[in-house]
Amino acid sequence: MNVYDTERMVDVMAPEGYEETDTPEGADLIVLNTCHIREKAAEKVYSDIGRIRKMKDAKKKAGEEMVLAVGGCVAQAEGAEIMKRAPIVDIVFGPQTYHNLPKMVNQSLDLKNHGEKSRILDTDLAVDEKFEQLSKKGVKKKATAFLTIQEGCDKFCTFCVVPYTRGAEYSRGVDDVIKDAIKLAEAGVVEVTLLGQNVNAFHGVSASGEEWGLPQLIRALAKIDGFERIRYTTSHPHDMTDELLDVHADVKECMPYLHLPVQAGSDKILKAMNRTHDSASYLKIIADLRKKRPDIALSGDFIVGFPGETDDDFEKTMELVRKVKYSQAYSFKYSPRPGTPAAAMENQVDEAISSARLTRLQALLKEQQTEFNNSMIGKTLCVLIEAPGKTNKTVFGRSPYMQAVQVTLGDASYKDLQGKIVDVLIKEGGPFNIQGVLA
Ligand code: 5AD
Ligand code: SF4
Repeated sequence: MNVYDTERMVDVMAPEGYEETDTPEGADLIVLNTCHIREKAAEKVYSDIGRIRKMKDAKKKAGEEMVLAVGGCVAQAEGAEIMKRAPIVDIVFGPQTYHNLPKMVNQSLDLKNHGEKSRILDTDLAVDEKFEQLSKKGVKKKATAFLTIQEGCDKFCTFCVVPYTRGAEYSRGVDDVIKDAIKLAEAGVVEVTLLGQNVNAFHGVSASGEEWGLPQLIRALAKIDGFERIRYTTSHPHDMTDELLDVHADVKECMPYLHLPVQAGSDKILKAMNRTHDSASYLKIIADLRKKRPDIALSGDFIVGFPGETDDDFEKTMELVRKVKYSQAYSFKYSPRPGTPAAAMENQVDEAISSARLTRLQALLKEQQTEFNNSMIGKTLCVLIEAPGKTNKTVFGRSPYMQAVQVTLGDASYKDLQGKIVDVLIKEGGPFNIQGVLA
């Protein structure tokens, strides 16, 4: 979602004459779009600010201004602290106020020109106004795009900052979403990924006042000319309805891939996490889904070392992973986040124990990912070509199952294939990607 948000920031700054640059040195404006989900991500902000200080000083010496803005969830959660700890930061703005970025930047420059204290803090959480402003902007030409349909979360998992930084669950209006989707399709987008922290909790209202869920929305989007692939992320097991499972069975544009975080395999830990599902109900969703769409590829998120997690609890996570067999997954050491209930729990797990568990879990997940990738050898897959490859003899694309595919070009050129879905015969596998030739 931060990638999507950053693209929108570029859109809103374009009419002001700003364009993206590959190198921060000498830029007129630097925006750090930050993530607060784990401590490591949050700490990165301060080291980045340190690096930017030197660039800002150099620019000042040349008699020019560099505006430094910190946006995103660290800004939301620690705005006042950033202002205090990093005096060189000019603007601090939360994830729901970036449509105001041009105003904030101009105001900051104005104040600077008048020799005044030029610092601005805007961490309002009202989200509806943002989408209204953003929908008016144009769309860049490319084959894949993200489209935010939902933001925020009311689930309050005890480890998670999202409900505090992104705010309450909010679904965009159906007509706004469809309008944006048509714009994307008209600009040549072939694959759209619907985004939301709780995307399958989507419950947007249509112009006629009817409430739509995600299944209805996907069915409508699939009818838009040009869209050949639809994905959505991230989902919560609680909102994985039968209607949504049916979409995977009978909407051919809905790709056979689902990212469905479970976090842990022990019911005791799931309860302490306030996940509202247990391991059996999660496994039932997976079994039902596989009945409807046998080739579905599954991905998940895992946290090890949540407070109170014993060896036995951790083994239950390993057991669940062995049962599901993931095609890819993301796994993390529990990171206490300020203000969340789990951070105040007394039974925190020792760092060394968490590290050892994470190593074991990641080894198992890598094994499964390799096995999944290798199972594609000899098959012909539809691959959407997205970017140049590692060498000028290859191109990069994605399989329906979200695998990264390196395709040997042969007589074709990247230009011929860019944005197209082509048949690729898979020749080689491995843990990170698969490789093949045009079929
Ligand atoms: N510590 C570690 N991982 C976390 N996640 C969310 N909060 C934390 C935390 N405090 C992980 C979850 C979530 C993913 C986006 O990040 O697995 O699904
Ligand atoms: Fe965080 Fe996801 Fe839980 Fe919401 S459902 S609190 S975003 S982990």
